[in-house]
Amino acid sequence: MYCILIHYDRKIIHYRDRETNWPPTVRRTMIESTAKPKTAARAAPRFVVKLGGRPLADSRVLDALAGDLAVLHARGARLTVVHGGGPQLSRLSDRMGIRTRKINGRRVTCAETLRLAKMVFAGEISTDVVAALRRHGAHAVGLTGVDGGVISAVRRSPVEMTNRETGRVEVVDFQHVGDIYGVDATMLRLLADNGFIPVVASLAADDAGEVLNINADTVAADLAIALGADRLFMMSDVPGVLRDVGDPATRIPELTVDGARELIRGGVVGDGMIPKLDGALRTLEGGVAAVHLMDGRAPHAILDEAAAPGSHGTTITALDGGSRPEAVCVTEGRA
Ligand SMILES: Nc1ncnc2c1ncn2[C@@H]1O[C@H](COP(=O)(O)OP(=O)(O)OP(=O)(O)O)[C@@H](O)[C@H]1O
Ligand SMILES: [Mg+2]
Repeated sequence: MYCILIHYDRKIIHYRDRETNWPPTVRRTMIESTAKPKTAARAAPRFVVKLGGRPLADSRVLDALAGDLAVLHARGARLTVVHGGGPQLSRLSDRMGIRTRKINGRRVTCAETLRLAKMVFAGEISTDVVAALRRHGAHAVGLTGVDGGVISAVRRSPVEMTNRETGRVEVVDFQHVGDIYGVDATMLRLLADNGFIPVVASLAADDAGEVLNINADTVAADLAIALGADRLFMMSDVPGVLRDVGDPATRIPELTVDGARELIRGGVVGDGMIPKLDGALRTLEGGVAAVHLMDGRAPHAILDEAAAPGSHGTTITALDGGSRPEAVCVTEGRA
């Protein structure tokens, strides 16, 4: 049975169904409905920037990324940062003797792994990102999807799925992993529209306050839709979507939604690139003009890409025929 609760005053719509899976169209409609009206005048571009765990693990890369974000921010872009931390969590799990299990690029989160995820995501990484931004003169606020009721999720029920590695169909219980059913972007807007950069770790909670782990690309996608962002930038450790994951020269500069679906179906992408592309596709369907998948370690990549879409990484647009998105931020001179 489905139950839809709508609170127009708080711009949040809760769509609940704990027994069955939600039809994707309804889920999408729900998240879209929290976005700003498309007709609203925009004083400054709104960007959501997802920072992958691997670029963040290198303090020099983090510093350079923070410098670029501070430049965009100083030029008036309203930024919301979402960060991952998969490799850092796996490393700590190894040190604690807790086995990491991933299926189709998504992590199984047992109770112990969840404890570590809170320490790594909401603790160390969040603080380091906020501190790096501060070093570059940008005031950021670290939070998780639990804060301010930003992300509402339900624990994922065990699902039957084909393990792309083994080709076998199995019933997978992801345990403390959540699926987002509502986003209340009020607090993020409050911060971003008043000169702060919200830095969001990919944890959420259900109505009972049970904390849930959510893939950071999924969080970035849903926040970009709910915020009515102009662009979503996903900064990872690869130069974009590659035809051959071992060969950076095989980067695909431009993709359409159909092209990206084909790559997933054909098994060209694997591991963490699957939820990343899934998130990118949903973002485009949710009304965001373009998603840029880039190497977070490339100096000034995000500044160049904002000024000249398609100059770095892989740009995914909704349109077939690939009409290039317009520049939304000027990058004259760098700090
Ligand atoms: N065809 C492909 N092109 C590019 N990367 C691919 C492809 N297939 C698989 N990958 C893998 O996807 C990885 C990126 O996803 P991953 O989840 O590991 O990083 P992230 O999302 O940036 O970080 P985090 O999960 O910490 O937020 C790459 O490191 C690469 O190994
Ligand atoms: Mg990932």
